[in-house]
Amino acid sequence: MLIEMPRHTEIFGSVKIHELQRVLKIDSGGFENPRAKDISFEEIKNVLRHFAIIIPVKNEKIHLLDGVLRAIPFDCSVIVVSNSGRETPDAYKMEQEVVKNLHDLTQQEMLIIHQKDPELGFAFYDAGYDHLLDKDGLVRDGKAEGMIIGMLLAKSLGKDFIGFTDADNYIPGSVREDVIDYAAGFCMSESPYSMVRLHWRYKPKVVEDKLYFKKWGRVSETTNKYLNLLISTHTGFETRVVVTGNAGEHALTTKLTDLLSYSTGYSIEPYHFVYLFDRFGVGAETITNTDADAANAGIEIFQIETLNPHIHEEKGEEHVNSMMLGSLQTVYHSKLCIDYVKSKVLEELGDILEWEKPKENIIMPPIREIDAHKFVKMLESNAETFARFERGAIE
Ligand code: GDD
Ligand code: MG
Repeated sequence: MLIEMPRHTEIFGSVKIHELQRVLKIDSGGFENPRAKDISFEEIKNVLRHFAIIIPVKNEKIHLLDGVLRAIPFDCSVIVVSNSGRETPDAYKMEQEVVKNLHDLTQQEMLIIHQKDPELGFAFYDAGYDHLLDKDGLVRDGKAEGMIIGMLLAKSLGKDFIGFTDADNYIPGSVREDVIDYAAGFCMSESPYSMVRLHWRYKPKVVEDKLYFKKWGRVSETTNKYLNLLISTHTGFETRVVVTGNAGEHALTTKLTDLLSYSTGYSIEPYHFVYLFDRFGVGAETITNTDADAANAGIEIFQIETLNPHIHEEKGEEHVNSMMLGSLQTVYHSKLCIDYVKSKVLEELGDILEWEKPKENIIMPPIREIDAHKFVKMLESNAETFARFERGAIE
């Protein structure tokens, strides 16, 4: 791959945020120059072999999930965490069949589990981690909750890199690119604590019968603005470095997944920034040994602009508003959010909030204390919805 060098890197305490980098060629020829970095396919493959890709899914069209599954490079392990309906027709059963059939045909490693499996809830309870459980002992609804389940499965496989891709993607080729872009980010990284976040080149919409190649989503533009303000108001220099505040498509080193706390539902992605700013930004004090190690190494964030556009399901106004609220709530409750930024957030949320104060999102602490092997052993023996299809022997 040939990828632009970041023009600038914003250093905020121990957090290094690289400016957006464009993919120049997905498959390149080894021509290095001062403006672009060439990463060989061998290097990319070396990352893919240690990579798990998690697909959170809730009632998506089965054709879309099928396309996404088929697009993920073979060397990665695939983990599907579903919160789809189980009433007849049982959508989860269909998802499981698609996964099993694809495994039969390809021998790629694939795991699947249902978020509401009672034994999964019990495994969390047993591990002393009840932060994502409802009163009924089941895991709550929420994309972040599904992602945490997936991260534990990935850790049990001993993976070094963990990435996410949504199931409602209409362009399988873009999913393949996403995974390769993640791997390219990790090839460039100098810290074991790093994260790659994707920015869509375009998000096409139909406007008056024509495709319009939109650049910015409604929520992301606003989220980015406020995340940047958290930085600017502490450094005294305006910045626009953050362009991936809501990036659902992102990947982390497993070491970084152990460091982070997670915010519920769709607020998980902006909260990555808020958590890192609060904990490792300017003026932050490191508390634990793990934190100190990360602070010394630095936490590196890559933002990559995909070559492919992103076409996914439109989920309506209410969904967009709740995503906006979840995102800005994380900013509002950041330690770095000064009164000026708070008042701006309140103004922004005016119509959505109707004079209420922004609530604090549910925050789930790091998962590093959970013994992932023991956790998955429990699932293997008890959880009815859990299936693991191992990678077959290939000549
Ligand atoms: N396991 C699980 N549990 N998956 C879920 C749940 C849940 O409760 N809710 C949603 N999902 C799945 C969806 O089926 C989809 O595959 C993925 O999570 C993303 O959800 P969407 O509903 O499609 O969200 P979106 O497209 O509006 O937003 C996406 O992009 C944003 C930025 O562009 C998400 O990835 C956001 O998190 C992201 O900020
Ligand atoms: Mg979507």
